[in-house]
Amino acid sequence: MSITLKTPDEIQKMRVAGRLAAEVLDYITPFVKPGVTTGEIDRLCHDYMVNVQQCIPAPLNYAPSGYKPYPKSICTSVNHQVCHGVPGDKQLKSGDIVNIDITTIKDGYHGDTSRMFLVGDASIQAKRLCEVTFECLWIGIAQVKPGARLGDIGHAIQQHAEKSGYSVVREFCGHGIGARFHEDPQVVHYGKPGTGLELKANMIFTIEPMINAGKAAIRELADGWTIVTKDHSLSAQWEHTILVTEAGFEVMTLSEGARTPPDFLKLNP
Ligand code: MF3
Ligand code: CO
Ligand code: CO
Repeated sequence: MSITLKTPDEIQKMRVAGRLAAEVLDYITPFVKPGVTTGEIDRLCHDYMVNVQQCIPAPLNYAPSGYKPYPKSICTSVNHQVCHGVPGDKQLKSGDIVNIDITTIKDGYHGDTSRMFLVGDASIQAKRLCEVTFECLWIGIAQVKPGARLGDIGHAIQQHAEKSGYSVVREFCGHGIGARFHEDPQVVHYGKPGTGLELKANMIFTIEPMINAGKAAIRELADGWTIVTKDHSLSAQWEHTILVTEAGFEVMTLSEGARTPPDFLKLNP
């Protein structure tokens, strides 16, 4: 497989799909409260995408080779769930943390973004993990410019996570994205500076670090999708879809409700 450089027309379609995905997260935010089930969150997001935004929820029936078709329209990963949590009957309770991951398809192109939500009163430890993971995402994004390498992104993320006492999940990574959900390259969240693929303007890929409070090891549940930490420690993830520009990067999955970058980065003021 190869890494495609997107045309101006494709980039414009990706901007639209990306904004829609972020706007689903804005829409669902007030519903993420103690007592709601992840299945209800899925249904609300599904209906919003299909009926209001008139886009396609990419996860529904998504079946990469070796997987059975994904049964829901979004992923909801709670507490020690790392990613690909399948929405169901479980009610969220105060103190939970949940990642909601939205991927839209609009006009044939994908937008992919996720955020962490604190349900009710989260512990100091849970809040710190979510904050550090958000910083990891943006420290990774800040590396993006033509001539930089994928190892620069991975290294910056790994350094920040590990100096905070956390570990980086190895088995899942960011990815090229466009007319297909998962394209080359693989964007791993660990590595060495100056190694790996050299970035070029008009590449589009996601950065989506999964950071564990405990050890990095993961396992898959019997549902064939949900990934959890082996040691049952908490896990967090944030995701944006990023375009490489001549000047550096453009985040394609912003919306009114998206968080601004951490202050310490002082990006393009
Ligand atoms: N949205 C996830 C990602 O960031 C992929 C979910 S695949 C699914 O790559 F089938 F579980 F939805
Ligand atoms: Co993704
Ligand atoms: Co995603």
